[in-house]
Amino acid sequence: MFPPRRPTGGDAPIRSTDNDAAVARVSAVKKGYCEDPFINHFVPRAHFLPPRPPLINIGTYVRSAGIDILVNQWLSMASQSSQRCQIVSLGAGSDTRFWRIAAHSAGPSKEHLEVYVEMDFPEITTKKAMAIRKSKELVQGLGDPADVMLAQGGTALHSPRYHLLPVDLRLDPSETLEPALCNSSNPDVSAILNPSLPTLVLFECVLVYMSSSSSLRLLEWFVNLSKRSENGVLGCVIYEMFGLGDAFGRVMIENLKERNISLPGAELFPTIASVPIRFLDAGFSAGRALTLKEIRKNYISAEELERQNIQFGILG
Ligand SMILES: C[S@@+](CC[C@H](N)C(=O)[O-])C[C@H]1O[C@@H](n2cnc3c(N)ncnc32)[C@H](O)[C@@H]1O
Repeated sequence: MFPPRRPTGGDAPIRSTDNDAAVARVSAVKKGYCEDPFINHFVPRAHFLPPRPPLINIGTYVRSAGIDILVNQWLSMASQSSQRCQIVSLGAGSDTRFWRIAAHSAGPSKEHLEVYVEMDFPEITTKKAMAIRKSKELVQGLGDPADVMLAQGGTALHSPRYHLLPVDLRLDPSETLEPALCNSSNPDVSAILNPSLPTLVLFECVLVYMSSSSSLRLLEWFVNLSKRSENGVLGCVIYEMFGLGDAFGRVMIENLKERNISLPGAELFPTIASVPIRFLDAGFSAGRALTLKEIRKNYISAEELERQNIQFGILG
């Protein structure tokens, strides 16, 4: 049976940002900034796409590398405390991080991953589920193909460790995330998330498309989930725009307006100092924000910067 359809036609411009992110990644990979053997599976005719300008490729690289560092730290922390952890990526789009972790044979990574969940609008999850089913390589990354199952009319996909689920993140999480991830109302079916395992929540370029009250409600739901267990530990990574009041930001807002995309989630964050406050407001004990420039300067290895300098002539 198909789930009831919500009127989501007006969200097509927001959903189209998934293609922007995926095409930027294809470009950064093609030009040698990033490594990602899986992204082409999610982008039709990826080989024919023209590359993006160097500045976009560098931004895509630093964004991806910065989040990779935090995700790998989370997996390493789980390994050091002999625990298994959970990762939930909201507005995941065509992200390939799960497969990159699963393919990583060295290090603690995948052995310490209990579950990886991705959520997005049903149109996006349907497309992703179909791309996964079509690719032997992607299915293999999920384990035994016999354990990979489509659900909810093809909008969801389940495997022992990876789950792809449809959701509109603007709706009340007690009515969306709660039944999808915790299954509290059905004791016969085990829940996808276990509140006693360390949980990392990823929002990569997502919250900016919704009101700050909706995103606060989402963050609070995860904080409350972690409190259901005495041992609950929660981490959260948000990659987002802020400070759009300058000339650059205003031009970007105007360009996006032409595509019917607005950025209500950026309104409350005029400066970098305003960004971590959202974590404290939601009940996290600490929060920190860095710019891409700071990440590039302080967290990308000297060897990688040297490689980019030689290969692409990027200085500084
Ligand atoms: C810019 S893309 C980023 C995709 C991915 N996180 C990445 O960085 O490659 C934004 C994603 O958020 C999703 N999204 C935005 N608002 C959403 C909502 N209310 N509910 C579910 N998904 C949403 C879009 O469909 C899209 O896939």
